[in-house]
Amino acid sequence: MSKFAAFEQFEEYQYQDNSRENRRNRPGSPKHKQKNGRSRQPMQDIREMDDGIENWVPSYAKALDPKHHERQWVIESVGPFYRDQIVTDVTRLVKGGKEANVYACTGHPATGVDLIAAKLYRPRELRHLKNDAVYKAGRQLRDAEGKEMKGRRVKLALSKKTSYGKSVDIQWWIGNEYRTQTQLFAAGADVPKPIAHQGNTVLMAYIGDEYGPAPTLSEVRLPREEAAPLFQRIMDNVALMLDNHLIHGDLSAYNILYWEGGVYLIDFPQMVEARHNPHAYELLERDITRVCDYFAGYGLKTNPVALTHSLWDPYMGPGG
Ligand SMILES: Nc1ncnc2c1ncn2[C@@H]1O[C@H](COP(=O)(O)OP(=O)(O)O)[C@@H](O)[C@H]1O
Ligand SMILES: [Mg+2]
Repeated sequence: MSKFAAFEQFEEYQYQDNSRENRRNRPGSPKHKQKNGRSRQPMQDIREMDDGIENWVPSYAKALDPKHHERQWVIESVGPFYRDQIVTDVTRLVKGGKEANVYACTGHPATGVDLIAAKLYRPRELRHLKNDAVYKAGRQLRDAEGKEMKGRRVKLALSKKTSYGKSVDIQWWIGNEYRTQTQLFAAGADVPKPIAHQGNTVLMAYIGDEYGPAPTLSEVRLPREEAAPLFQRIMDNVALMLDNHLIHGDLSAYNILYWEGGVYLIDFPQMVEARHNPHAYELLERDITRVCDYFAGYGLKTNPVALTHSLWDPYMGPGG
């Protein structure tokens, strides 16, 4: 794959979308040729199939003003997963943020998952992601498939924030979140099962039920007897991540879901590689400290510095 392949794919993806749109609006396109014709039968079949997808409006979007930009954004972002028979509907907005919105979707029976969470990044807002030097330091630039990207042009574009650079960024952040989550899920970490990603969107198992999403730890008052075992469970996850050379980098009670007595760690775009990032130790200590601070509210006495050392020192080995 050439070094610009990721961008080209992205561009092509946009182009395909646009071109389909253009074709549909052109007089003489299949849509406008329905009037007569014995020979149109096979064509019509294709058209009908196509129409089902092109005209797909999920329930959540139906309730929005047709001119509302969110409506088109949801349809365009989740449409490819509808087409691929992964998602059948978008039912509600779970949470809207500055960088991303998370929506609840119903899964196609073929996926074996009833409810799916779709995280849609806002392309224009990507520059606000926590993508500062701390997180990017020591990390290679990778495309959506995880292949390393090289070249002065890529770096220059990124630093200049040209539209080319932003496209590379989009690929990079979203691919990164998805890859990390896949790797951690396979390793047995408590993270929602990743399902698919494309364009600006990541799909994963939805934690919660039809009445609402799981709360974050910051939103619940835990039964007191659950505090100590949950704290241990979170620390086990932090240790497992480190075994996989990863540090969450933004771990806190806001990025841990609580459901049916268990926890799920979420929100990975700023994950750092423990081996390469010069700030790895500090980020690990900050993650652990934030978790300790939360559990201090339940009377748990912990020592975040000692805990960080107890994980980091064996990981680095003698002389590390
Ligand atoms: N898999 C999921 N199941 C249920 N709710 C989720 C899921 N992923 C995210 N959420 C909800 O969406 C919110 C935002 O998700 P998050 O990944 O933390 O994005 P960000 O903080 O960047 O906006 C979370 O606080 C949580 O309430
Ligand atoms: Mg978050």
